[in-house]
Amino acid sequence: MDPTTSHVFHRHLRQTYPVAVAGDGPYLIASDGRRYLDGSGGAAVSCLGHGHPAIVAAVREQVATLEYAHTSFMTSEPAEALADDLIGHAPAGLSHVYFVSGGSEGVEAALKMAVQYHAERGRPQKTRVVARWQSYHGNTLGALSAGGNRWRRAQFASLLLDISHIAECYEYRGRREGESVTAYGQRMADELEAEIQRQGADHVAAFIAEPVVGATMGAVPAVPGYLKRIREICDRHDVLLILDEVMCGMGRTGTLHACEQDGVAPDIEIVAKGLGAGYQPIGAVLVHGRIVDAIRSGSGFFQHGHTYLGHPVACAAALAVQREIRPLLPQVRAHGERLHALLQQRLGGHPNVGDLRGRGLFRGIELVADRASKAPFDPAQRLHAAVKREAMARGLMVYPMGGTIDGQRGDHVLLAPPFIVADAELDAIVERLAAAVDAATAAARRARDVPSV
Ligand SMILES: Cc1ncc(COP(=O)(O)O)c(C=O)c1O
Repeated sequence: MDPTTSHVFHRHLRQTYPVAVAGDGPYLIASDGRRYLDGSGGAAVSCLGHGHPAIVAAVREQVATLEYAHTSFMTSEPAEALADDLIGHAPAGLSHVYFVSGGSEGVEAALKMAVQYHAERGRPQKTRVVARWQSYHGNTLGALSAGGNRWRRAQFASLLLDISHIAECYEYRGRREGESVTAYGQRMADELEAEIQRQGADHVAAFIAEPVVGATMGAVPAVPGYLKRIREICDRHDVLLILDEVMCGMGRTGTLHACEQDGVAPDIEIVAKGLGAGYQPIGAVLVHGRIVDAIRSGSGFFQHGHTYLGHPVACAAALAVQREIRPLLPQVRAHGERLHALLQQRLGGHPNVGDLRGRGLFRGIELVADRASKAPFDPAQRLHAAVKREAMARGLMVYPMGGTIDGQRGDHVLLAPPFIVADAELDAIVERLAAAVDAATAAARRARDVPSV
């Protein structure tokens, strides 16, 4: 689409975008007939690929039956059925679902819910939230305040809430020489306790984190034991644990909830992308029974709300998606292993690949200028943008991002292919990605090595 004639306020106003006209399993098809292999499900959204007949049918049927009913007047069958379904497969203790329309809305609701929970129990001073640097929680102001990407925050600093941040759990760069993985995890988790003590436990309402950090770091899981220690610290100080599984949840890492692999259950969990798989905009906040009980026996209502909460068509789509996803989980794990092995084979020895990481079909590749020192490329080179461009030129969609280390420095590529991907398509994703990485890094090396005059 020509950026000079389009009236859409595109993400980048000087860029020309292909026009997507159709989807076909793991492919998106553009108006010029080109087929793009969707190696990242957009931004880890399209976990069932495109044009899935069962989901399309569920949406059609629901929109023809009941398109909308405002939740302050009525509930709806799809919302009730989806909540039953989600709670039937939720981490221990989560009993209710607050529906929203996406990830950021979910984060906003979770933060308010945590503060209201403490107020309902006679602790109105417990209002502060702790989050982690380098996390991403969304772009609305509350979610951006919780997020730890310094570049995203900087321009809007004057609008942000006063949320404090502890260091991220980032083994590749953070673990000291000679330090065991376990000791590293405990050291990082203990930062939470120090921060709670610094603020006074009486003032801290909640801690929010992504179990596997997605967009801003590139599929970085916490090390074993980290989240368990975080859970203990939260319990010790009556601080709610909010897990943001907007990107890593709903099967993406090989288990329905990413936190299952860490052996912890949160007090509040936010899910979104894989919930509706892109067939409808929907997010959900899964809430522990004791939070619901405190609000029910206190004021009786959560002081929040949006027009499209529990939208019947979105809920019907998400219910159909969930029924498709669960039987695919073993496949996600097997494909995930295969994807990791292929990446290792093709890129493991690449001079500019520093780290390959992730879980299930959620994989990250961190690019570096020098493997030994882990030095990143100069951010001015915008290596991540070049990888995206080179991949698109090869008919592949992946999700690269810069600022991996501190919001400014570092580049990574995120892969999140659909769960229905076939072996040959995984091969093609890795082949095309490797060619794109080769081309982009070679150009960046050449540019770096040209002496400035
Ligand atoms: C972990 C996480 N939380 C929240 C969000 C925000 O979701 P949305 O873009 O649907 O508002 C995202 C989006 O990428 C995310 O990855």
